[in-house]
Formats: sequence, structure tokens, C-alpha cells
Amino acid sequence: MPFPVTRMRRLRQTPQLRNLVAETALRVDDLIAPLFVREGIETPQPITSLPGVSQHTVESVVKEARRLVELGVPGLVLFGVPLRKDDVGSGAWDPDGIVQVAARAIREEVGAGLAVMADLCLDEYTDHGHCGPLGPDGQPDNDRTIELYARAALAQAAAGVEMVAPSGMMDGQVGAIRAALDGAGHDGVGIMAYSAKYASSLYGPFREAVDVTIAGGGDRKGYQQDWRNRRESLREVALDIDEGADIVMVKPAGMYLDVIAAVRDRFDVPVAAYQVSGEYAMIRAAGERGWVDGDAVALESVSAIKRAGADMVLTYFAAELAEVLGGRGVLGG
Ligand code: PBG
Repeated sequence: MPFPVTRMRRLRQTPQLRNLVAETALRVDDLIAPLFVREGIETPQPITSLPGVSQHTVESVVKEARRLVELGVPGLVLFGVPLRKDDVGSGAWDPDGIVQVAARAIREEVGAGLAVMADLCLDEYTDHGHCGPLGPDGQPDNDRTIELYARAALAQAAAGVEMVAPSGMMDGQVGAIRAALDGAGHDGVGIMAYSAKYASSLYGPFREAVDVTIAGGGDRKGYQQDWRNRRESLREVALDIDEGADIVMVKPAGMYLDVIAAVRDRFDVPVAAYQVSGEYAMIRAAGERGWVDGDAVALESVSAIKRAGADMVLTYFAAELAEVLGGRGVLGG
């Protein structure tokens, strides 16, 4: 050769060498499974746009929690689908609301064997599908909404969740929830804040999963972030940490790796990322058509989220990945 060639390929020659120099290790311990539980059904209902994911009964969600424990998955996040919805979303703080019932049942089954978390929002419980009761402008009334989030947090804490996960993007929601929890002696209950949550088109399958249609063909652009912005996320995260967030989250994940990396770089709290329903559905759909190797893309996508800086990933692939990763703990290319 007329010039010296640096042999980068030396360390790529065998799986063993590749494993030794791997910079990212996806572990079962990094995974959190989102689970849907629906009031008033007798059997689990498959979700068409989320193949492999179901709306659970209380009984089947308990079974799924047991399976997650056996697979070594450390956490789950519950989403509730109530039988009745109203204009304020009262099912969210009803002690007998579906998430509270499910959380208690799971806790009874698995004891301390799993971090049980609950999504904390009102959109699943309101008849208009917005994340809080509406003001005269047809948008959620911020300050009324965060008072209701605080009530929902108390109901979830009383049902035994370790962490509540406010996802409504109301200003001051983390502070209101922290104050309410502390005031009621629940200072041990943590907050995983959906801090940088974008008004994304990737939530479509989720809305089928929780039976939510936003009234009048509306959207959440009046409260969730504009996906053209990155710096705005850093302000959101800083505010949430100031208000008492224990873990901050970026959502969606795969198209927001720059945001995850920026948050990881700037802050010292644990960072979660949510690989949302649309991300899962796209990988699944292309895999079903044989256009990509779905299992391989699933592993690559979640590993990339980890590489960008997430400490933990909420993903509908959690159980499947745990099965793949289980034997070896970690898996690389
Ligand atoms: C709001 C909430 C949403 C998701 C999680 N929490 C939907 C929304 O903001 O419209 C989306 C999750 C997913 O798409 O997987 N309660």
C-alpha cells in the first residue's frame, strides 16, 4: 500500500473480540414493559395495531406481571382503560379505578419482585380524550388539571405503586404531584416524569389500545412539544428536576436520539426513553411482511436508544427481548 492503512477491522474479526470492545450492553435490567388493563372485559383483547400486545383483564395482567418477574424484567408501567369516561376523568383517582385495582392485584401476586409504575394522565379517562378538563378555549385547564393529577397520584400511591409517571405535559405537574405525595406521607413514591414529550404522530396504535379519540379531530400540540425543537426539551427537563422528578423521560425514542443524548449529557438524574407504539408497530409491520428482520431490528432499535444515553427503555418489545437476552444477559451484533 502506498500509505499506512489503519486496521479497524482487526477487532471485528470474531464475536468474542466484538463483545470485548462493545461500548453498549443492552441488559434485561434496562427494560420496562408498558401494560394495558381494561375494565369490564372477560378475556384479553388483542390490539390490532400492536400485534402481540393486548388489553388485559385484571387476571391476565397479574399473569403477565408474573411472567415479567420470571424473565427478570425489573419494571412495568400500567395504563388503564375504564368502562366509563367523563369530562374530568374521575376514573383516574377513584380508589376502585382500573389501574388502582390492577396495581393492588399485581402487588399481591409479585410482592416486591417488580417495580410497579403507573402512567398518570387523564386522557384515558376523559370523554373528550384530552389530558385534563377543558377550559373555555377547548384546551386542558392547566391548573385545574394538575390538582387532579395530584389526586390520581395519591390513589395510585395508595394502591402500592413505587413510581407514578405523569405524561400530560401540564406545567407544574411534577411539583404538584410531589407536594401531594409528600403531604400524604408517600415520600417514598417516586416520579418518573415524561419530561420531553413530543406531539408525535407515533402514538396512533396507543390510542387504539386505550380507546382514546380526541374530540373534534383535535390534537395535543397545545401542550406537548413541537418536534422541531431540541433546546426546549432541556428546559422541560430542568424544570421537572427542580420540581422533584426522580427519573426524566424522553418520548418518543428512536427519532429523538439527539434529545436523549443532550439530556444525558446535561443532567445527572437517570434518563428513561419510551419506544412508543408507532415505533413498535412499524418494526412489527415491516417484519411481518418480511421486508426487514423484525427481531433483529427490535434489538438494534432498543440498543441504539441505550447507546444514545438512556439508562432504561420503555418498550413493547420488553418481554420478547428479555427472552432473547435472558440466557446471556446481554447481546450484541
Ligand atoms: C398519555 C400517553 C400517551 C402515550 C403514553 N401516555 C398518548 C398521548 O400522549 O397521546 C403514548 C404511548 C405510546 O404511543 O406507546 N396518557
